[in-house]
Amino acid sequence: MVQLTLPANSRVTKGKHYPAPKDAKKVRTFKIYRYDPETGQNPRWDTYDVAVDQCGPMVLDALIHIKSTMDATLTFRRSCREGVCGSCAMNIGGRNTLACTRGHDEIPGDTIAVSPLPHMPVIKDLVPDLTSFYAQYASIEPFMQTTTPAPEKEWKQSPEDRAKMDGLYECILCACCSTSCPSYWWNGDRYLGPAVLLQAYRWLIDSRDEEKGKRLDNLEDPFRLYRCHTIMNCAQVCPKGLNPAKAIGEIKTMMVERAI
Ligand code: SF4
Ligand code: F3S
Ligand code: FES
Repeated sequence: MVQLTLPANSRVTKGKHYPAPKDAKKVRTFKIYRYDPETGQNPRWDTYDVAVDQCGPMVLDALIHIKSTMDATLTFRRSCREGVCGSCAMNIGGRNTLACTRGHDEIPGDTIAVSPLPHMPVIKDLVPDLTSFYAQYASIEPFMQTTTPAPEKEWKQSPEDRAKMDGLYECILCACCSTSCPSYWWNGDRYLGPAVLLQAYRWLIDSRDEEKGKRLDNLEDPFRLYRCHTIMNCAQVCPKGLNPAKAIGEIKTMMVERAI
C-alpha cells in the first residue's frame, strides 16, 4: 500500500534535535512534522530521542512525554486515549492510525516518523483542518428522518435489522480512511470519501429511516459517490477494522436496484 507521509503543502526542512536525558535506559527516536502556518516559515522535521522506559507504551504516550518534558510547543489533538473519540488520528510510520492505540514498540526501524493526516490543510503541527470533512458529513444528514407519525414510545427495530448496522455504527469518524484514499486526495472537494459514505450507508440501511430515496438522490452524482475506484486503502487502515469499501459497494448496488 502506498501512502504519503506528508501533507502536500510545501517543502519540509530539517529542524531541531532534542537529545534523551542521561538516565534514559531505552531510547527511540521520533521524527515529528512541525508547522505553524502563522509564522510564514516552511514546515520542518524535529527529532526527539525519547526515553521510552519513562513513558507509556503508546505513540500518544510518547507525544505527551515530549510535550511535558522536552518541548511544550508540540501541538497535537487527543481526548479519550481509548480509541473511541478519533481525535488523535495521524500518520505514524507511514500509516494513518490512532496514536493512542498504536504501540511504539510495534513500529519497526530506528526512527518513528509522525506527521498529520495526509493531504489535509494543517492548523498546526499534527493537527489537520477537518472543516471540509465535517461539512461533507453534515451534507449526508446523519440523523434519522421519518415521514410517518412518531410512535408513542419508541421506533422499534428487529434484532435482524439492528444487526445490519454492525460494522457501521462503530465508526468514530477519525478520517484515517478518507485521508488514505488517493481518490479523496485528488477530488476531496467533490468526492465524499470512504468515511462519509460509510456513514451515509449506515442511515440507508437503518430500517427505521424513511428517507431512503432522498438519501440516494443526494449521492447520485459522478463525484460524490462514483469516485471510489475500489483502491481499498480505506479498509486496510481503518483502526476500528471496518470496511468502508464494502459499504460503498452496497450503496452502488442500491443505486442499480432502484434504477431497475
Ligand atoms: Fe475512522 Fe474507520 Fe470510520 Fe474511517 S471507517 S472514519 S478509518 S473509524
Ligand atoms: Fe478510496 Fe477505499 Fe474507494 S481507498 S477508492 S474509498 S475503496
Ligand atoms: Fe481518542 Fe485516540 S485519543 S481515539
